[in-house]
Amino acid sequence: MLQVERLGIRYGAVEAVDNLTFHVPDSTCVALIGSNGAGKSSVLKGIMGLASATGSIRLGNTDLGGLKSHQRVSAGIALSPEGRHVFADMSVKENLLVGAAGHDREALVTEMFGLFPRLGEREKQIAGSMSGGEQQMLAIARALMSKPKLLMLDEPTMGLAPIIVDQVIVLINVLKKRGLSILLAEQNAEMALEVAEHAYVLETGRLKREGASADLARDPAIQEDYLGL
Ligand SMILES: Nc1ncnc2c1ncn2[C@@H]1O[C@H](COP(=O)(O)OP(=O)(O)OP(=O)(O)O)[C@@H](O)[C@H]1O
Ligand SMILES: [Mg+2]
Repeated sequence: MLQVERLGIRYGAVEAVDNLTFHVPDSTCVALIGSNGAGKSSVLKGIMGLASATGSIRLGNTDLGGLKSHQRVSAGIALSPEGRHVFADMSVKENLLVGAAGHDREALVTEMFGLFPRLGEREKQIAGSMSGGEQQMLAIARALMSKPKLLMLDEPTMGLAPIIVDQVIVLINVLKKRGLSILLAEQNAEMALEVAEHAYVLETGRLKREGASADLARDPAIQEDYLGL
């Protein structure tokens, strides 16, 4: 599905991502784990075309290099950004419609309300007045409105209560069963290793470790540095 090779991203003198190679297979969730400033958001922005990157990024047979962000959306990539960034003054439904690519917008909204019943109950509510968990679900639903093959989630559990984190995990599993591939950037390594099949650990822009989530979760160094055990 997604193949990233030798990805490099720099902002002036800051090397945010250095020589990073990873892939996300079909219908799986892959996690990027790391603490503040590790480069997780930069990787997602580079894939989305929101930060200029070196190296190669391919989605299936499509080379994304040189494509503008909206062309990458058409190719099948969507991003739910860190901090959610819903349009606070717009209703739930209006937020969703903004994310819709092309036709069948009403049918897609109906599909999202099936996936997120809470949003359906509140379709006219102003997004800025929703709870943090509801806004996170709205941000994910808005990203899904472009019918992506690869959904990128940047810190979807930030600031959410454990019960809502569990709902995000359930949702990711539902999306995988529907055939989506998911690239998850998370500081919450416990959550990420629970939901992802495979994880890449970043430290100051470099790959520190990678492996099956179950193996990383058992690793004493990972437990100490990222799981607080
Ligand atoms: N637009 C920018 N201009 C300059 N430096 C930037 C920019 N965006 C990110 N950086 C720097 O790049 C590095 C990686 O940042 P990034 O946001 O990718 O990390 P992150 O892993 O997502 O961190 P967090 O968990 O805090 O969200 C940091 O040192 C950051 O200061
Ligand atoms: Mg980030």
